[in-house]
Amino acid sequence: MPLNLAVALFCATASLFAIAGADDPYRFFNWNVTYGDIYPLGVRQTGILINGQFPGPDIHSVTNDNLIINVFNSLDEPFLLSWNGIQQRRNSYEDGVYGTTCPIPPGKNFTYILQVKDQIGSFYYFPSLAFHKAAGGFGGIRILSRPRIPVPFPDPAGDYTVLIGDWYKSNHTDLRAHLDLGKKLPFPDGILINGRGPGGASFNVEQGKTYRLRISNVGLQNSLNFRIQNHKLKLVEVEGTHTLQTTYSSIDIHVGQSSSVLFTADQPAQDYYIVVSTRFTNPVLTTTATLRYSNSAGPVSGPPPGGPTIQIDWSLNQARSIRTNLTASGPRPNPQGSYHYGLINTTRTIRLANSAGQVNGKQRYAVNSVSFVPADTPLKLADYFKIGGVFRVGSISDNPYGGGIYLDTSVMNADYRAFIEIVFQNDEDIVQSWHLDGYSFFVVGMDGGQWTAASRNQYNLRDAISRCTTQECGT
Ligand SMILES: *[C@@H]1O[C@H](CO)[C@@H](O)[C@H](O)[C@H]1NC(C)=O
Ligand SMILES: *[C@@H]1O[C@H](CO)[C@@H](O)[C@H](O)[C@H]1NC(C)=O
Ligand SMILES: *[C@@H]1O[C@H](CO)[C@@H](O)[C@H](O)[C@H]1NC(C)=O
Ligand SMILES: *[C@@H]1O[C@H](CO)[C@@H](O)[C@H](O)[C@H]1NC(C)=O
Ligand SMILES: *[C@@H]1O[C@H](CO)[C@@H](O)[C@H](O)[C@H]1NC(C)=O
Repeated sequence: MPLNLAVALFCATASLFAIAGADDPYRFFNWNVTYGDIYPLGVRQTGILINGQFPGPDIHSVTNDNLIINVFNSLDEPFLLSWNGIQQRRNSYEDGVYGTTCPIPPGKNFTYILQVKDQIGSFYYFPSLAFHKAAGGFGGIRILSRPRIPVPFPDPAGDYTVLIGDWYKSNHTDLRAHLDLGKKLPFPDGILINGRGPGGASFNVEQGKTYRLRISNVGLQNSLNFRIQNHKLKLVEVEGTHTLQTTYSSIDIHVGQSSSVLFTADQPAQDYYIVVSTRFTNPVLTTTATLRYSNSAGPVSGPPPGGPTIQIDWSLNQARSIRTNLTASGPRPNPQGSYHYGLINTTRTIRLANSAGQVNGKQRYAVNSVSFVPADTPLKLADYFKIGGVFRVGSISDNPYGGGIYLDTSVMNADYRAFIEIVFQNDEDIVQSWHLDGYSFFVVGMDGGQWTAASRNQYNLRDAISRCTTQECGT
């Protein structure tokens, strides 16, 4: 069955300039972004390093912390970092995408001032311009619960960031040039786990103990399946929501998504394969890392366990089974289920269809036929300072109409506190991720075929997951 639509509900709230919450703790970071040689697949490549590291350093924080991150751009190109899943309440100017924040010029620095207000969970940061993500510059972000807020599982013995993603031996400037020649992205050369190729990464555990993995897909295009030989994965959190704790033998993570799983090292003491493979591709790309028991009697043995490959139903069923634990606390002591999103009337429906095609000989991607062109002035600044001629509200329609792709600085407006239904429609043959920057939304439905008003009867209006990135498989 083709799976080509996903429906999200979200609430639009205002974004105004705001300063950090003065009473909450501060954490300071000084980051130097440089080029450096990396060898993730055994060949030398130009990577983007942060303080000499690839992937970049993790950000550890607690709900409501203020993060002050001074970033020096030592590259030869403008650079911007975006904080995937951080909600930037009244603070969208720090979000680090072209529409909100000026790029940091080469040789200059900029200090991001964020507050992880009312958030918990697992996220990551990445460079949002110029295909820099294909060279590195990404890292994990975790937001722990405040000490008195109950977490619906015991403290794990260890808590690891696991960044997985497809990878190319070509550098980011060559990949960019490839698209500008009108070609699509080639098939990747490999998959990396924490910046390492096959057999490179390892995770140490003690027999009998339970560990948390915060897995994010930081790749460019491919949906990935994650599994551990002979071990079950218990899903506990998805992009800041505590989930029903369901156990899976493997889990799909689509581009831009983050999930936390728990697993117990309950097997005979030896080493085991951690496997990540591409979904919906032919051939299937696979990579491994090592799970190492502290009292390990020997190396990994047997073939790495297989996972789902092209089965779409499997992925759809798993996605539908990911639901909110309504009685667990989120960032606040009250249960997550006390916000009854299903009782709120939607005030507007937006249908967004993605497409791919050539414009002026270059490979371009579009939403409702518009391929976004950045303006010289970030849109939020043009809006705030009332600078005319930068963008036109309504320059993208609320519905697809099937026309050819054209270039525009597309801007859609939303009313403050409007509760919006968004239907994502994918008629392409690869999986799409849709990310709403700075917002979480409830993924109330996902199915094949065309959306109609009758599709609403199938919505999950009770315990859908609230997240910032949803997938949509192609036809
Ligand atoms: C960043 O690193 C480069 C290369 O090591 C160095 O030349 C430069 O001085 C560093 N900049 C800062 C601000 O630390
Ligand atoms: C650049 O870094 C310097 C030295 O740390 C700092 O004083 C200054 O505020 C930074 N500038 C910006 C725009 O963040
Ligand atoms: C939901 O959270 C509650 C409260 O922490 C917990 O007791 C319960 O086991 C969780 N249920 C599931 C199915 O995860
Ligand atoms: C990428 O590789 C090409 C050669 O294939 C080279 O000309 C270019 O300078 C490289 N870009 C970077 C950022 O290293
Ligand atoms: C939603 O709309 C119905 C019908 O118009 C109305 O009776 C109900 O009060 C509305 N609910 C909310 C929460 O506004």
